[in-house]
Amino acid sequence: MSFENKTVVITGGNSGIGLAFAELAYASGANVVIFGRNKETLDAAAAKLGERCLAVRGDVAKLADLDVLFEATRDRFGGIDHLVVNAGIAKLLPLADADEAHFDQLFDVNVKGAFFTVKKAEPLLRDNGSVVIVSSVAGQKGFAGTSVYSATKAAVRSFARTLSAELLPRGIRVNVVSPGPIETPIFDRMGFTPEQTVETKAGFTEAVPLKRMGTPGEVADAIAFLSAPSASFIVGVDLTVDGGMVQL
Ligand SMILES: NC(=O)c1ccc[n+]([C@@H]2O[C@H](COP(=O)([O-])OP(=O)(O)OC[C@H]3O[C@@H](n4cnc5c(N)ncnc54)[C@H](OP(=O)(O)O)[C@@H]3O)[C@@H](O)[C@H]2O)c1
Repeated sequence: MSFENKTVVITGGNSGIGLAFAELAYASGANVVIFGRNKETLDAAAAKLGERCLAVRGDVAKLADLDVLFEATRDRFGGIDHLVVNAGIAKLLPLADADEAHFDQLFDVNVKGAFFTVKKAEPLLRDNGSVVIVSSVAGQKGFAGTSVYSATKAAVRSFARTLSAELLPRGIRVNVVSPGPIETPIFDRMGFTPEQTVETKAGFTEAVPLKRMGTPGEVADAIAFLSAPSASFIVGVDLTVDGGMVQL
């Protein structure tokens, strides 16, 4: 799969799944723009990738930061061939503990951030390009204690249908990748103790028919497939990358 001379923008391209796709796209010849909040991981990723990488610091929930991202992308590379809407947070709370701040934080980053990422990228997206939105199996199944996070992921799955319909006249395909449990730093950011993190991962591993967590590279491969001409007849789908968690 070649991304030679293509420009790829990845929100959350400085960690986990987004970084794995940034590495894949860069190695396949792409100009790569990564966007995140953490200066340290952004700088490290940019240094590892090389001169065709542009790292922009900002928060997807702040529309002014998205303007900075897309202005910098336009100035450096002119336009966008493939957009990956990947930035997200996972805070998991049961109904009894989920308060307004929890709800607002998750919807601001995962839903508002995703929507305005596509909206503000749209003028720069080249005809016949693609958008891949990273959702989650949590949007498809009822895992206790995850109601707000799961709803944010169901919302972005809906965006892929409607935005596909809106962008298809320009040949731009919008699809979704829904990972199951993937070994990334996201588990260290859930606010759990180290013991709870180990317990959570063990629980997910047990729930996966393949009896392991996935790797960021396995999700990156699916993003690459849906982004590239390999998926030229695939529009508006939700591709699960979950070791069989949803279907079996
Ligand atoms: N890992 C899993 O098991 C799993 C399963 C299903 C779905 N997913 C989804 O996959 C996506 C990537 O997650 P991951 O597992 O790779 O986790 P990760 O390693 O924690 O990466 C999350 C990325 O999103 C960025 N990000 C978070 N909030 C942001 C904000 N407000 N503004 C800009 N960037 C922000 C982070 O950048 P900073 O650190 O710089 O903020 C980071 O680069 C997420 O949407 C997640 O919901 C993950």
